[in-house]
Amino acid sequence: SAKGLRFDGMVIVVTGAGGGLGRAYALFFGSRGANVVVNDLGGSFKGEGNSTKAADVVVDEIRKAGGKAVANYDSVEFGEKIIDTAVKTFGTIHILINNAGILRDIAFRNMKDDDWNLIMKVHVKGSYKCARAAWPIFRKQKYGRIINTASAAGLFGSFGQTNYAAAKLAMVGFSETLAREGAKYNILCNVIAPIAASRMTETVMPPEVLETLKPEWVVPLVAVLVHESNEEENGGIFEVGGGHIAKLRWERSKGALLKTDSSLTPSALLKKWDDINDFSTCEHPNGPANFMELLELARELGTNEQGEEVSFKDKVVVV
Ligand code: NAI
Repeated sequence: SAKGLRFDGMVIVVTGAGGGLGRAYALFFGSRGANVVVNDLGGSFKGEGNSTKAADVVVDEIRKAGGKAVANYDSVEFGEKIIDTAVKTFGTIHILINNAGILRDIAFRNMKDDDWNLIMKVHVKGSYKCARAAWPIFRKQKYGRIINTASAAGLFGSFGQTNYAAAKLAMVGFSETLAREGAKYNILCNVIAPIAASRMTETVMPPEVLETLKPEWVVPLVAVLVHESNEEENGGIFEVGGGHIAKLRWERSKGALLKTDSSLTPSALLKKWDDINDFSTCEHPNGPANFMELLELARELGTNEQGEEVSFKDKVVVV
């Protein structure tokens, strides 16, 4: 059972482990026998400043409870230095939790390049650099577990967070691809969209809601995904928080199939708009539509029927 999961001898790097979710992961793995690298730059939630205190406090907590931990204060954009701390202190790395993150919320019309670039640097480049540095070690030892951190903002969009949403959905494509490249080396990668009370959310949610969203309640999902007993859950996208754990997957509508000749016009496509939107017979794909097969089917079709419609607006009026 999850209650008994141990991580003895495992070397785990948790980025952004000085507070919030990262701290909860670090304390948990430290209490379950793992050697923990507690990385944190120690800046503000907007990515300003730095301090050694955030990581040091968590390392102290783990050690006082009898666990093994070491601090690292580098920004995740220098991921190789963080992985280096793991290798120099504990000999290797088995588990990487890309968790560090910041916010730069701003309406898109006021977005500055700095707001955009800093978010991309911490979330996208940071996760890349840490995984890239761990990758050859994972491959060589034929063992690795990675968790990347997405967000509901990235999956569904979120007002005032174009930069953050773009960076967070990037974590999904990144994870899905690492899952494919790593599988044959026993490197598994999953991505989570967590929700938890932290300094990041304490200004946007009321206290009674925050009370139900303890970071500790995100930990068990991460624990089972990175445990050595997980040999198959790979490339998954999970929503987790407040005691709710769910999986997300892609859905493809039935779709329209049109003859590929000169009758494939905007009007012909609009005529099929309902098929494009028809999810009643949808599939849950793990890859792109099989267009070779579809082309074959399309060859059998007659010339595309042309609607009266010349625009989307007209179609809506006609139907
Ligand atoms: P938090 O602000 O409490 O923790 C993030 C930690 O990352 C901080 O300790 C910070 O110092 C550290 N950090 C920031 N930039 C860094 C850098 N360049 N290098 C190293 N460390 C750095 O926030 P929280 O809520 O614990 O967030 C953890 C992750 O979960 C983030 O990736 C966040 O985007 C994501 N997330 C959180 C949600 C929530 O409801 N709390 C919702 C969706 C996603």
